[in-house]
Amino acid sequence: MKILILGFKGMLGYELVEAFSEGNELFLWDREQIDITKRDDVIKKIGKLKPDIVINSAAYTAVDRAESEKDAVYKVNGCAVGFLSTICKEIDALLIHFSTDYVFDGENHLGYKEDYLVTKPITLYGRSKVLGEKLITDINPRHYLIRTSWLFGKNGKNFVETMIGLANEKRDIKVVNDQFGSPTYAKDLAYKVREMVNENKPSGIYHITNSNHCSWYEFALKIFEFAGLKPNVKPVKTEEFPTPAKRPIYSMLVNTKLSPMRSWEEALKDYLTETDRIK
Ligand SMILES: NC(=O)c1ccc[n+]([C@@H]2O[C@H](COP(=O)([O-])OP(=O)(O)OC[C@H]3O[C@@H](n4cnc5c(N)ncnc54)[C@H](OP(=O)(O)O)[C@@H]3O)[C@@H](O)[C@H]2O)c1
Repeated sequence: MKILILGFKGMLGYELVEAFSEGNELFLWDREQIDITKRDDVIKKIGKLKPDIVINSAAYTAVDRAESEKDAVYKVNGCAVGFLSTICKEIDALLIHFSTDYVFDGENHLGYKEDYLVTKPITLYGRSKVLGEKLITDINPRHYLIRTSWLFGKNGKNFVETMIGLANEKRDIKVVNDQFGSPTYAKDLAYKVREMVNENKPSGIYHITNSNHCSWYEFALKIFEFAGLKPNVKPVKTEEFPTPAKRPIYSMLVNTKLSPMRSWEEALKDYLTETDRIK
């Protein structure tokens, strides 16, 4: 199949390239090849390429910076998804797009199923992703809209690397213990998306994360345990860590449509082994 991956230099993009490279004709674009906020370029270039599938992992992901860059975040996470949906509909391509747990307000301690109707973001990043969700579902009937959470992976800044960096500096570390979610290995997500394509899953919204959930503090403890690090780590409440963007308290995305993925603990262990932190 002819597959275009947008944002291939990002954390998830990198793993998507690995997962889809066998048996497909891949076209890899990032900012240098196309600015997805430029409508005419998107329509012209993708219209000319005519891929069977467009996988969009390009996004504005700086959640705190987004609070002061409303135009920029809306253009990339919102309007651009409309442009991609328009051209994909025109050329009859499947559009695979990623969204986030941050489209919810985080008040539901039971977590959020795919059919949970009330998106109620509490950040500009979340609002921009809701706009993207609306545009893809309104415009292109052939789509997978995949919500995921707390990504870590080899090719990007992420919580695991931040914690290891702090522990290596031998600092006292404070980690929030009252926000809960499901850490997700970008590689597992990418292979799950490949499985969906191979199995020709129907269009719709999907929730894909590693199984089980934890607080950021519990996540940090597991990282240190697996990596054999022993920093002085203390659980704290969200109020002690003011950030420009508020975080949802309960970020768990409940998957009711696909076979479950392995636990985040197993995935973390694999990630640390593959990146030489566990011998
Ligand atoms: N990271 C998480 O914890 C997380 C959690 C839930 C959902 N998600 C979603 O998962 C998806 C992938 O996230 P990620 O963390 O892998 O993202 P990422 O590492 O930030 O990568 C995004 C890529 O998109 C590129 N890009 C940004 N604006 C662009 C534009 N206008 N035109 C073309 N390319 C552009 C970026 O280039 P530059 O680096 O030059 O900007 C970067 O290479 C996103 O939809 C995100 O919202 C992520």
